[in-house]
Amino acid sequence: MKKKRDKIKDLLNCGEESPEVLIKGWVRTKRDSKGGFSFLEINDGSCVSGLQVVAAHNLPGYEAIAPRLTTGSCVFVSGALVRSQGKGQTLEVQAAEVGLYGTADAEKYPLQKKSHSFEFLREIAHLRPRTNTFGAVMRVRHRLAYGIHKFFHDRGFIHLHTPIITTSDCEGAGEMFQVTTLDLAEPPMAGGQVDYDKDFFGERTALTVSGQLEGEIYALALSDIYTFGPTFRAENSNTSRHLAEFWMVEPEMAFYDLDDNMDLAEEFIKALFADVLENCAEDMEFFNKRIDPQILETLRTVCESEFERIHYTDAIHLLEKASEKFVYAVEWGCALQSEHERYLSEKVFKKPVIIFNYPEAIKSFYMKLNEDGETVRAMDVLLPRLGEIIGGSQREDDAILLERRMRAKGLDPEEYWWYLDLRRFGSAPHSGFGLGFERLVQFVTGMENIRDVIPFPRTPRHARF
Ligand code: 4AD
Ligand code: MG
Repeated sequence: MKKKRDKIKDLLNCGEESPEVLIKGWVRTKRDSKGGFSFLEINDGSCVSGLQVVAAHNLPGYEAIAPRLTTGSCVFVSGALVRSQGKGQTLEVQAAEVGLYGTADAEKYPLQKKSHSFEFLREIAHLRPRTNTFGAVMRVRHRLAYGIHKFFHDRGFIHLHTPIITTSDCEGAGEMFQVTTLDLAEPPMAGGQVDYDKDFFGERTALTVSGQLEGEIYALALSDIYTFGPTFRAENSNTSRHLAEFWMVEPEMAFYDLDDNMDLAEEFIKALFADVLENCAEDMEFFNKRIDPQILETLRTVCESEFERIHYTDAIHLLEKASEKFVYAVEWGCALQSEHERYLSEKVFKKPVIIFNYPEAIKSFYMKLNEDGETVRAMDVLLPRLGEIIGGSQREDDAILLERRMRAKGLDPEEYWWYLDLRRFGSAPHSGFGLGFERLVQFVTGMENIRDVIPFPRTPRHARF
């Protein structure tokens, strides 16, 4: 028997007959025919399609294992790859040998049925990757990650690993998960407060909400960097677009103003969509057939569209004029809710929209103040159906203005002395943005819930596998 395993994807892509192949994978279905044959559909996760195996009942050793070749069992099959006579597949394996690695008790295996709700599958996160949908999601997720590295590498960006444990709150929203080795039942106290001097790091630490601040340090030395790492937010939002642990891509560029930043964000999204359309054709066909019949067209349209760019103030005017009834009232100065964002991108412009120049009061301390003294050079990229996928800005590069905004937002400039130093020594105009990786995967696959595009979702009250 051949030693080296063939991946089903490679065999199908090659499309040619072959006298000897060896496949390994999990049985999806088994059908016995009257003529002394069984048909097994094997899937090895390399692509959506399985490969049909025709096994004659008189193969040596076959009778003994046949009853245990049930859905979910793991097998290897060697034989000849030949043109199929039957409908539904072009090639099939005429088995010379079928062997069993692991059984899956038909009475107990939870994926016996053909289709299951995504809610049910979330409860069996250890088995859901064996379904077609999750296989396709994970392959597309991988391709997007690869596409992100390729996009930035091709443009001379340096991939920077920023810390996960940090003492600073980048978004200043206080939504951080604390990291401590102190005994919670009996923490050391000093002056009526927990004495963090006795904690592992000698001060209060948390999981990062963003790699941006550290990213800026390296952008102001290497010009163009990006981070791509896990970020954590302890916000109690149980929505289909929020995770407590998610992956964020954050490019940071010296010498970019807000326009350059918007150009890069738009180019980035289009490049990623085009890459997936080209390189994940089979998985994308699957999503178009099973999840969202418009998804291929949507992605193609985004690639060809010019993103609408509007001032926050103009966005507010449009929303005030809208005949639509919103749950949250709109007035200048308010944060835009997802219903507002979706109205603009779905109903008004029917394409991606970049809103920029937001009121200073509702945006983070690090964003550059406009001459009007009221707005900052912030931008959000909104996609139809999803809402915000990217948030970014030109950064405040003036030490005095930055310190003033820090104080106004209740941050202690002493604690961020290193961040202010970047503006004291060789400051430069610079900009960057953050893209929520799971929101990207969600949009590209058409999946409704963000919990279904990450292997192990972390949400309020849910952290077990
Ligand atoms: O808009 P955000 O909060 O921006 C930042 O963190 C900046 N420091 C980025 C930067 O300028 N370098 O988050 C960026 C993106 C959002 O647009 C959204 O796509 C995603 O991160 N995001 C989440 N994704 C899933 N679950 C959550 N709880 C998310 N919070 C933000
Ligand atoms: Mg944001």
